[in-house]
Amino acid sequence: MKVIVTGGTGYIGSHTIVDLMEHGFEVVCIDNLSRSRKYALKGIEKITGKAPLFYPVDLCDKEATFEVISEHRDAVGIIHFAALKSVPESVVKPLEYYSNNIDSLLHILEAVNTYGIPHVVFSSSCSVYGNAEQLPVTESTPIKPAESPYAHTKQIGEDIIRNAAPAGQARYILLRYFNPIGAHPSSWIGEIPMDKPNNLVPFITQTATGKLPKLTVYGNDYPTRDSSCIRDYIHVCDIAHAHTLALQYLMAGKSETAVDIFNLGSGNGVSVLEAIHAFEKVSGQKLPYTLGERRAGDVVAVYADNTKAATLLDWHCQYTLEDAMLSAWNWELKMQELQGEF
Ligand SMILES: NC(=O)c1ccc[n+]([C@@H]2O[C@H](COP(=O)([O-])OP(=O)(O)OC[C@H]3O[C@@H](n4cnc5c(N)ncnc54)[C@H](O)[C@@H]3O)[C@@H](O)[C@H]2O)c1
Repeated sequence: MKVIVTGGTGYIGSHTIVDLMEHGFEVVCIDNLSRSRKYALKGIEKITGKAPLFYPVDLCDKEATFEVISEHRDAVGIIHFAALKSVPESVVKPLEYYSNNIDSLLHILEAVNTYGIPHVVFSSSCSVYGNAEQLPVTESTPIKPAESPYAHTKQIGEDIIRNAAPAGQARYILLRYFNPIGAHPSSWIGEIPMDKPNNLVPFITQTATGKLPKLTVYGNDYPTRDSSCIRDYIHVCDIAHAHTLALQYLMAGKSETAVDIFNLGSGNGVSVLEAIHAFEKVSGQKLPYTLGERRAGDVVAVYADNTKAATLLDWHCQYTLEDAMLSAWNWELKMQELQGEF
């Protein structure tokens, strides 16, 4: 039961590798380390007792990608996480986002067909829904224009898979993540922001340690209950386990279509201010924050209807918002100890 994980030293990839290994899979990890650190492999080994086989390969390099996948053509599937993921960065560097996220996907899909890999799980995002008119969003909620080049790369990626799948043999699952937060309860792995954080929770935890002077809440005039954006925060370990379930679902032949789609969200819409207060409650830290301008590319509100994943994948969240905040805080403190290892 070998599985190839691209983007495996990244945030969600590393947590998924742990979950896969804990469920009997042997993992081959590919990552060009452009947005992650090799440390993740050590962290995975601390938790599972074994590091995955690792290839430092750029998936935009077709020849190198084909070489690895050819060597592991006996894999039962590929989980394709690798992508650039920052909404604001994609607004500034759109072409970098289109070329990295689309070229890498095309190479993976070509390799899947060439080497007969039977199952593929693709990391999509709730950002494909844009500013949805109806909440919560289900998998059949109409897709609105993307609010950022990043979101557009995910819409294009989904379209490419939908159009290409019927011409090949592989079966696909597209997982639309909402807002993954938190870290493994062991604190051996978590999100390692490469630069100034873009996501709320690393922003919060770095403000709490004093690394950042204060937190900016982007936008205080949204038409929501407290004027800040609403998101669906979900523990990264819950997201990780859904990949194991999705792969098992495909392997059991349960998927009735060439491409199936699942929302992965908790189902709860939480405002940015509510998320900040949840962190303050579990950590005992008071956060200095200011209300700032809206940020380009942000949608007003989005949260999931996760009935399909619950029913078909038997996927149910094990962690609460507070669990996620506490694990993120513990990870931030652990990172200070681990600095030399990064
Ligand atoms: N974290 C989120 O909030 C979120 C939400 C929805 C969807 N997603 C998607 O989930 C996936 C994983 O996200 P993450 O949070 O773990 O991000 P991450 O940045 O931590 O991990 C992505 C990994 O992909 C690698 N990578 C990027 N381009 C590559 C290339 N050309 N070749 C090889 N490796 C490459 C990076 O080095 C990094 O390790 C991404 O596709 C992302 O778009 C993330």
